[in-house]
Amino acid sequence: MTSAIRPRLLILHQMPSQFIRPLERVFDLDYKDTSVPVTREQILSRIRANPPDAMLFPGGIKIDKEVLSTAGDKLKMLATFSVGYNHIDLKECQKRGISIGYTPGVLTNGVADLGVALLLATSRRISEAMKKARNGEWGKSSDIMWMCGKPLANSIIGIVGLGQIGLAIARRLQAFSIQQILYSGTREKQFDSEDDKKLFKFVQFEKLLNQSDFVIIACALNEKTENMFNKQAFEQMKNDAILINIARGGIVDQEALYDALKNGQIQAAGLDVTTPEPLPLDHPLLTLENCTIFPHIGSADESARHQMAQVCVDNLLNFFSGKPMVHQLKIDNL
Ligand code: DGY
Repeated sequence: MTSAIRPRLLILHQMPSQFIRPLERVFDLDYKDTSVPVTREQILSRIRANPPDAMLFPGGIKIDKEVLSTAGDKLKMLATFSVGYNHIDLKECQKRGISIGYTPGVLTNGVADLGVALLLATSRRISEAMKKARNGEWGKSSDIMWMCGKPLANSIIGIVGLGQIGLAIARRLQAFSIQQILYSGTREKQFDSEDDKKLFKFVQFEKLLNQSDFVIIACALNEKTENMFNKQAFEQMKNDAILINIARGGIVDQEALYDALKNGQIQAAGLDVTTPEPLPLDHPLLTLENCTIFPHIGSADESARHQMAQVCVDNLLNFFSGKPMVHQLKIDNL
């Protein structure tokens, strides 16, 4: 391509150079090779200075009406470095005819591994235990129940949203001799094997809450799921239930969660996602021993991140050479 017709691409996160090089050959890049996160003001001013044809950005950056209208008619494509898309104003994109590429599938294993790690860290009180090993509390109790946690064997697991990631978590948990998996969501899944038909049971959300020992949130954040875990939901859960959220912070009403954890309405929670992100250091949830918080590292395994980067690059290159994207978000079907 000659420089006169090269499309302009604004990149809003740092990536290894092997993913930048193929983009450089096709696009005029607005890219800063730094790990310092970009601020909203910087994003808007970079868009104003050089309106892009496409933007590549991570899930933590809000692409709302203001960003889209600042970019104006030139903007044709968004490439999000995420499987989630709740940070994008989809209606506005639809109105403006903007296509969206995203990265489903390639991070399923990474997020599922992390979901299991978070569940075990929470149920076996790992961060508390690590603290005690370092602060001299180890050896100060003869109680045989010291530092006991909640076992997975024979437990009932409730999964809210049995999509690719929910199912991958369920498959991993089968290795822990669990009793049953209840799931809720938009539709019942068809299983082929008799073992699966016995193991998985599609139930109403309320039943899942009443009966599960562990409740795992693995659904998308949307108008229906926002604050789905509120005071009423926590009241329906078992007092020794453990809540795990690897999906989006907005699905949980955090004030209600704080009260539920503080008052013993539920036993513990493990969160890989919060509102906002990062969670402010003075947030009440960070004061609770029974709340394990990770800094949204679900997809942070090397293979997942490399594959996500490759899908983003291919989505961009395909779109601008008139080919179908590897994964295009079908806004009409949402
Ligand atoms: C995504 O890509 O949307 C996930 O939040 C990764 O953890």
